[in-house]
Amino acid sequence: MDTHTEHSGAPLPAPVAVVRGAEGDSPVYIGRGLLARAGEIAAGAVRGRRALVVADTNVGPLHLAPLLASLRAAGFEAERHAIPAGEASKSLAELERLWGALHRAGITRTDLVVALGGGVTGDLAGFAAATWLRGVAAMQVPTSLLAFVDSSIGGKTAIDVPFGKNLVGAFHQPVAVVGDPDVLRTLPPRERGQGMAEAVKTACIRDADLLSFLRSVAGRPLSGEETERVVAGCARIKADVVNRDEREGGLRMILNFGHTVGHAVEKVLGYGAVPHGEAVSVGMVAAAKLGERLGETPAGTAEALAELLAAFSLPTRVADLPGGAACGPDALFAAMLSDKKKLGAKIHFVLLEGWGRAKSVPLDPAAVRGALPAVL
Ligand SMILES: NC(=O)c1ccc[n+]([C@@H]2O[C@H](COP(=O)([O-])OP(=O)(O)OC[C@H]3O[C@@H](n4cnc5c(N)ncnc54)[C@H](O)[C@@H]3O)[C@@H](O)[C@H]2O)c1
Ligand SMILES: [Zn+2]
Repeated sequence: MDTHTEHSGAPLPAPVAVVRGAEGDSPVYIGRGLLARAGEIAAGAVRGRRALVVADTNVGPLHLAPLLASLRAAGFEAERHAIPAGEASKSLAELERLWGALHRAGITRTDLVVALGGGVTGDLAGFAAATWLRGVAAMQVPTSLLAFVDSSIGGKTAIDVPFGKNLVGAFHQPVAVVGDPDVLRTLPPRERGQGMAEAVKTACIRDADLLSFLRSVAGRPLSGEETERVVAGCARIKADVVNRDEREGGLRMILNFGHTVGHAVEKVLGYGAVPHGEAVSVGMVAAAKLGERLGETPAGTAEALAELLAAFSLPTRVADLPGGAACGPDALFAAMLSDKKKLGAKIHFVLLEGWGRAKSVPLDPAAVRGALPAVL
């Protein structure tokens, strides 16, 4: 790209993964210091030179300045748009406010929307980009660990509506994902835990080596290099799974390991009452126990998994969650039956066949109900 030669710095690193979407390639760049080079990447990805950067009220003050500077140095007229931090911003009202900001910033079909933040910002800004003028380019700049390992990659965007979470959205692959692990230094520890749960999930379903690495660092703060290894490893796996199944027809469902019980727990306790990653953490252990009972998962898997999650300060039993007493088998079962991931009459569970290997299995609801007391 000629725009790259305008910059006197080193050549850009190669992407750690590329999602090959129906709308084009979506390279995933991970590397410390990359925030300052997001402008170059953006300039190579779109023809227009206007950008609207969306960040929430926590992330903006911490990380917006270097990103805006980088975009402006690369020739962009870059504006900012702030959203309140928190899940409540994945709303129709915030989407409408964001459309207004896109209008005022003069964002046209060749311009760019940049999501700087966690999954909330990524999902809202991504959906705004998918819908504005029937679709403009989006760039994801993850700042939460969850966004690095999960939400920024794969092109799913959504808002929540009164009837449920993520019910209105679109598949819209970002033109690039630019992850600078240095931004994770400001992430509060509890948020780090949310992402770590998804990182453990990602390694469990696809990469036994990455799981061993996670075991080797569990229980202590990770260095910058170790963090980079974890997020790059997870990004590769997520991109690979999405490449094999962009629209969640089959394989992509394995990314839901731990989520059948996890979503049910969130539903019973009320969304937001328990952080998603903590619900998934509990759900992974339950799914491992269920797999063991069904003879699909090697004996001892659930115990080893629980040990690893506990080392990352994550809960491993429903009873450990605040208000967890409300999550009896009956309540969870009812919630599972109403989950949107239920297909036909079956309840889908992702079961581990071993470390790094998983499959999605449709189970008879009666069998699930029968096993629940023993796996919770
Ligand atoms: N699109 C997908 O494929 C996908 C996948 C998984 C989850 N999600 C969605 O992601 C959302 C959850 O994402 P999340 O956990 O990142 O939530 P989030 O975006 O709300 O971020 C969590 C908190 O951390 C703060 N934060 C983020 N980065 C920070 C940083 N570097 N320093 C300091 N504070 C920082 C945020 O302000 C927020 O308060 C949910 O809405 C979920 O539905 C989407
Ligand atoms: Zn999740």
